[in-house]
Amino acid sequence: MTMLEKAVAALPIKGYLNMEIPKGINLVEEINKMRKEKNAIILAHYYQTGDIQDIADFLGDSLQLARAAEKTNADLIVFCGVHFMAETAKILNPTKKVVLPDLLAGCSLADSASGEGIREMKKKYPNAIVVSYINCDSTVKAESDIIVTSSNAEHIINSLPENQEIIFAPDKNLGRYINQVTGRNMILWDGACIVHEAFSLERIAQQMLEHPKAKLIAHPEAQKPVLQVAHYIGSTANLLNYVVNDSSQEFIVATEEGILHEMRKRAPHKTLIPALTIDDKCNCSECHFMKLNTMEKLYLCMKYEQPEILMEEEIRLKALKPINRMLEMSKAIK
Ligand code: 13P
Ligand code: SF4
Repeated sequence: MTMLEKAVAALPIKGYLNMEIPKGINLVEEINKMRKEKNAIILAHYYQTGDIQDIADFLGDSLQLARAAEKTNADLIVFCGVHFMAETAKILNPTKKVVLPDLLAGCSLADSASGEGIREMKKKYPNAIVVSYINCDSTVKAESDIIVTSSNAEHIINSLPENQEIIFAPDKNLGRYINQVTGRNMILWDGACIVHEAFSLERIAQQMLEHPKAKLIAHPEAQKPVLQVAHYIGSTANLLNYVVNDSSQEFIVATEEGILHEMRKRAPHKTLIPALTIDDKCNCSECHFMKLNTMEKLYLCMKYEQPEILMEEEIRLKALKPINRMLEMSKAIK
């Protein structure tokens, strides 16, 4: 059983997701009403479905969402993203109630590491500090010295002493990329994102031939061969900014498809082509964890204020330190 499955099994309210939604109800109106009545804030990641992105008070990548969660005055934080992101919001804002529309919205990267595993690794490399990508659960954060996101990882690693030994967890693709751009030799945990590892270099090369003017842009969670041919590599927010600001008119986008919703809004005249994956049946680069959240579940979750993100205070306090360190060290990053 993963940590997340254990948390779901321990849920006080079982089957709330099957609760009936009254017929003929206007979900957008009801959600807006509850948002006011409950002084709630809806935070959404760019990988959520378009309707959830549109109703959110704040839309962002994981760094922007962590910052928004830290400074909100709302009583109820409704986190439309995956579990580790909602957990980060709770760690930063313990007096607020944090709810996630579907508690099973996990992450393959976060599932690949545990606090216990990190402790074992630290025994093997006693002089190393642990830098963890924010895509990890609270037990991993609690064992880490600094947290990073894809938006600030390069900046933070560059600001550490050159001879500092570093264990980087859990994403080996992001870790390898950061090693390459910073000239470091971090020890990499063997985790990966199932969505970003699914891109097919062969099929992307074909897309590039068919669209010779298009620029390939990729998230650093993608594998090395894809990153090697990319014109630009960046976090979700940076990919969005690149599409808006670059003079090219066509882009092949190698990251989760949800970001195309905001890219289309901000750059309506540009052509955006989702990069193809190895699965030639669905061609999908959707994160099925992210897409577990729906408008119906968002409505139910706001109505019943469940499922709630809870964690032991001891773990929360330990996990808070490396997150605060990240926020402090990345003030210069937008
Ligand atoms: P960002 O840090 O770019 O938001 O990425 C989060 C994520 O889960 C990427 O798969
Ligand atoms: Fe995790 Fe990958 Fe989904 Fe991001 S896209 S939440 S890294 S599984």
